[in-house]
Amino acid sequence: MYKIVKKQQLNDAVVLLEIEAEFIAKKVLPGQFIIFRIDEQGERIPLTVADYDREKGTITLIVQTVGRSTKMLGAMEAGEYIQDVVGPLGIPTHLEGLKNVCVIGGGVGCAIAYPQAKALHNAGAHVDMIAGFRSKDIVIIEDEMRAVSDNLYVMTDDGTYGEQGFVTVKLKELLDAGNKYDAVIAIGPIPMMKFVSATTKPYGVKTIVSLNPIMIDGTGMCGGCRVSVGGQVKFACVDGPDFDGHEVDFDELMRRNSTNKEQEAHDCENCRLRGAHNA
Ligand code: NAD
Ligand code: FES
Repeated sequence: MYKIVKKQQLNDAVVLLEIEAEFIAKKVLPGQFIIFRIDEQGERIPLTVADYDREKGTITLIVQTVGRSTKMLGAMEAGEYIQDVVGPLGIPTHLEGLKNVCVIGGGVGCAIAYPQAKALHNAGAHVDMIAGFRSKDIVIIEDEMRAVSDNLYVMTDDGTYGEQGFVTVKLKELLDAGNKYDAVIAIGPIPMMKFVSATTKPYGVKTIVSLNPIMIDGTGMCGGCRVSVGGQVKFACVDGPDFDGHEVDFDELMRRNSTNKEQEAHDCENCRLRGAHNA
């Protein structure tokens, strides 16, 4: 059992949870994820680790409460316990040797991009960070992102905060201004990662994306998280979650994820009718 030691609501649909998980906190590196189960009957949900404190033995998860299990997790309070937290899983992001990097977060994906920016900043790299949100009221972890970047550009779709436009508008501006990045790291909605990769391709800038397809066992056995990368089948849980954005078949990934979302909505509706959970 894993105790929630802190809970903070970041916006209406995003919650931060700090969880006691000593073994994971000791080993986890940026880019890695855990799989949690709320209780014995719970489904297995992967979440990338947003931060960790090796001394305290805690990990931080930032959760968008969209599906049944994430809504149940978001409704839990400090002092309560989660049944299982397994990890760290996946291959850490390859940050070695990167000196000049543009880190891009889209919405709640900023929580996953943040540890990469922090690790790069702590290693002495120059970090430009672009954080995109739909509007001002859902901006999260701005101070934290600012603290680990040389330049933070906040973009909003509706222009209510920062500059107006998608993250790709600022990225193109920075590339056109002559910034020579060793890599662009992009984490957020799939369309964002697709268009970031399309933006960097003509400039020949290495682009790393973090994929979050549906996962079941997290061990490469079930095939649930398969993605096509460079024409080959890869499993995000063991071969990723990071991949070369110029090689990922994003359209296939979007098709698979939307089928899963329809199934989840159907399952949720059935549970609501049975009063099985509080989604
Ligand atoms: P969102 O839909 O509000 O988008 C956030 C930002 O991404 C936008 O403000 C915009 O700047 C950018 N963006 C979106 N579509 C774009 C496009 N077509 N072209 C260029 N830029 C675009 O994000 P949200 O509602 O916070 O959702 C976050 C999404 O991120 C969820 O779908 C979640 O599954 C995903 N996510 C992914 C990971 C991961 O590891 N890849 C981690 C956490 C969340
Ligand atoms: Fe089963 Fe990746 S989650 S193969």
